[in-house]
Amino acid sequence: MHKYPSAQMHYHDYLQLDKILKAQQPESEKQNLPAHDEMLFIIIHQAYELWFKQLHYEVDSVAAIMNKPSLNDNSPELQTVVHRLNRCVTILRVLIHQIDIMETMTPMDFLDFRDMLRPASGFQSWQFKELEAKLGLKFEHRHGKEYYTSQLKTEHVDIIKNAESGKSLLDLINGWLERMPLSPALSDDKNSFWQIYRSSYNASLADAEKENLNAFDEIFFNNTQRTLHHTQLSSSASRAALFIMLYRGYPLLQLPFQLLNCLLEIDEQLSSWRYRHMNMVHRMIGTRIGTGGSTGKDYLKAAADKHYIFKEIAQLNSFLMERRKLPALPREMEERLGFVHK
Ligand code: HEM
Repeated sequence: MHKYPSAQMHYHDYLQLDKILKAQQPESEKQNLPAHDEMLFIIIHQAYELWFKQLHYEVDSVAAIMNKPSLNDNSPELQTVVHRLNRCVTILRVLIHQIDIMETMTPMDFLDFRDMLRPASGFQSWQFKELEAKLGLKFEHRHGKEYYTSQLKTEHVDIIKNAESGKSLLDLINGWLERMPLSPALSDDKNSFWQIYRSSYNASLADAEKENLNAFDEIFFNNTQRTLHHTQLSSSASRAALFIMLYRGYPLLQLPFQLLNCLLEIDEQLSSWRYRHMNMVHRMIGTRIGTGGSTGKDYLKAAADKHYIFKEIAQLNSFLMERRKLPALPREMEERLGFVHK
């Protein structure tokens, strides 16, 4: 038999399985009131928390890259950002699928141990809330703020507050978009790109949509200081993002487009998770209150509706136009975007 030299790394030690595998201690066992499914309940939550940790690791690394003022649309590092955000999306997809496993537990199986964990609740997952904050969810936009401050331990509230007061991924995206040199400059000249686009957009609106032009002006022209307007994106950032979406076929805009797309994908996956979780909760406890003391399904529904993080980027899709109606770009700009050779 192969004898393992003690100096060499061993699978068991490398993964610290001693600690991990001893970390499942069902309350039902301690209280000698057997409840078979509590083990599954604990392991699923632990698996989630490990994946949350990985998501933090990816988002932190992406934020560190985005924080570099030198990052531009052609930087090799932008590729890394897109790659890692795509990884986050894939992890989120797995997190949604894990609900399938949770749902193999029936409401009666859950009742066997539910009261033993009160008032613990997934609501107290500070990693989940910190992740929302790092991505860009502000405290004032949270549903049920009082639960967040009253149900979590002070040290966990501090961690989340710290994330809320720092630069979120959304703040960094806004800064990167504002710096983007490829987007056409704003001008009052009626022949300038944005004035032509505005006229064509207006012409494309149905009568019932005419109000959209006010929103267009507000978002793309008037919001010079986003902090004053309490928005996530300034006008120049919104213009750059719209430009990327419209002209994403140009080589230099492909990565920026993928980056914006990843953010929308993250929001969509998070929202799908919230809805799957909410439906599972409804199936599991009906209309009873949660172990954390919230209204249960109603709380979760309101949070799901309110906690979209990149909604201002998604909203830009209201201002797109058909490709064939897009203003042609000047040749000099096409050259900069890497489409034609000099
Ligand atoms: C039997 C399974 C589950 C039930 C019945 C359940 C129930 C609930 C309820 C009722 C809430 C609202 C707060 C409260 O009053 O407790 C909640 C929140 C939450 N749960 Fe679950 N949950 C289950 C499984 C999970 C799993 C597997 C996770 C994975 C980590 C999870 C994560 C969360 C999170 C992060 C929140 C806070 C959501 C927010 O504030 O937007 N839950 N859960």
